Amino acid sequence: MAVQGTCTVVVGCQWGDEGKGKIVDVLAEGVDVVARYQGGANAGHTVHVGDNEFILHQIPSGILHAGKRCLLGNGVVLDIRQFFDEYDALESRGIALEGRVGVSSRAHILFPYHRLMDRAAEDTASLKIGTTGRGIGPAYEDKAGRRGVRVADLANRERLEELVGFALDRIRGRLDQIGHGSGQELDDLMGEALSLGDRLLGLSLDTGAELMATLRAGKRVLLEGAQGTALDLDHGTYPFVTSSNTTAAAAATGTGIGPTAIDSVVGVVKAYTTRVGEGPLPSAFDPAMDAHVRELGGEFGATTGRPRRCGWFDAVLSRYAAQVNGLTGLAVTKLDVLDTIPELEIVTGYRLPDGSVVESFPADTWSLGGIEPVVERHPGWNAPTSEARALSDLPSNARAYLHRIEELTGAPVQWVSVGTQRSQIIPVG
Ligand code: GDP
Ligand code: IMO
Ligand code: MG
Repeated sequence: MAVQGTCTVVVGCQWGDEGKGKIVDVLAEGVDVVARYQGGANAGHTVHVGDNEFILHQIPSGILHAGKRCLLGNGVVLDIRQFFDEYDALESRGIALEGRVGVSSRAHILFPYHRLMDRAAEDTASLKIGTTGRGIGPAYEDKAGRRGVRVADLANRERLEELVGFALDRIRGRLDQIGHGSGQELDDLMGEALSLGDRLLGLSLDTGAELMATLRAGKRVLLEGAQGTALDLDHGTYPFVTSSNTTAAAAATGTGIGPTAIDSVVGVVKAYTTRVGEGPLPSAFDPAMDAHVRELGGEFGATTGRPRRCGWFDAVLSRYAAQVNGLTGLAVTKLDVLDTIPELEIVTGYRLPDGSVVESFPADTWSLGGIEPVVERHPGWNAPTSEARALSDLPSNARAYLHRIEELTGAPVQWVSVGTQRSQIIPVG
């Protein structure tokens, strides 16, 4: 499927799991290189190719198209063990990866102690975030604290051991407290992670240089986001967010290109809303509808298996996502999941406890718990959409629903996804 620009960002516009993996897979056909720009193995991007399901955590979702280059940018925190497990599992399923994968020399390494610290923090915190337990927060803390270890450091064994030694000395007390400090387990895990260092170095490069060379050669690039706008460290529902900037501007910082190289930004939204982990979900369904849509949409986390909370499409959030990402278009996914719902709602504003209505996404996350959503009602279409391949194949109520999403968000719908398969996509316009 053709993308509209030469360098396109694909970004989630809700709380993650919008179907970015499916959209990136579909769009990857029309580009030469796909690069992930942030996050780590907290992501779970699901792609279906025929009867095969692939869940990608760190490797970009373009990998299932033969011959496409896939890069992990400097903004990623790389769990080496998990990365090679994923790499080898793909190869064992017949996907040829040789010469196709590159990792930024500037990417930070996520070590086994980051995972231990993440889980310990969640177990003992008075304010739980409901993380994926993949070590993401502690790894980005080390990066911002200027004590992280980068892929380039793997080239110098002495310096590497010194840096890892500093890190372990600093956290040994905390690891002792949680029962992992002096044990063999951590040494084994570290030994295993470091033993893969040379293999990783063999893939390391300057992702920005490769991407710019690709663009200068007149080829196309796709920059793949993980998580979503409402989980962005600055723009999301802080503190119930992930520890990186997930939004489109981070695609430049996180890969090593300048923002002027990017010419289109596709925002991925589900036709409704989901959230996994703690934190407010302003458009949440009532419990019966929540259970019903979770079942219809198979809304269980691709990384942790946790049930996702579900709600109506939230246009307050999508409008905000259009602003902070500079969206040039929308990909609406999972429209088919709503096929049997008699009446749909779209949230257009939040009524605060004092009766006033806000239509912009509030900075005060805590206030979101006390708001009452202002909704519009739309008739359902009560007809299957999964066979539709053109906008005109969709029932008129479904087209009206999409049109309203476009109007309220302020970005044109460019793709509509009506199933998990590659073929189940409607290009619009
Ligand atoms: P991501 O993290 O944004 O890539 O999304 P996930 O893979 O975590 O979750 C999206 C889920 O919805 C996956 O199981 C996809 O296979 C599935 N999916 C994607 N698009 C569609 C669609 O249009 N219809 C249906 N029914 N499922 C979809
Ligand atoms: P993809 O890329 C949905 C959520 C976690 C938690 C918060 C912080 O598949 O859309 P973290 O482990 O990042 O420190 O957890 O963010 N979260 C996701 N939710 N999809 C994801 O990724 C997520 N990655 C993290 O549930 O609420
Ligand atoms: Mg996911």
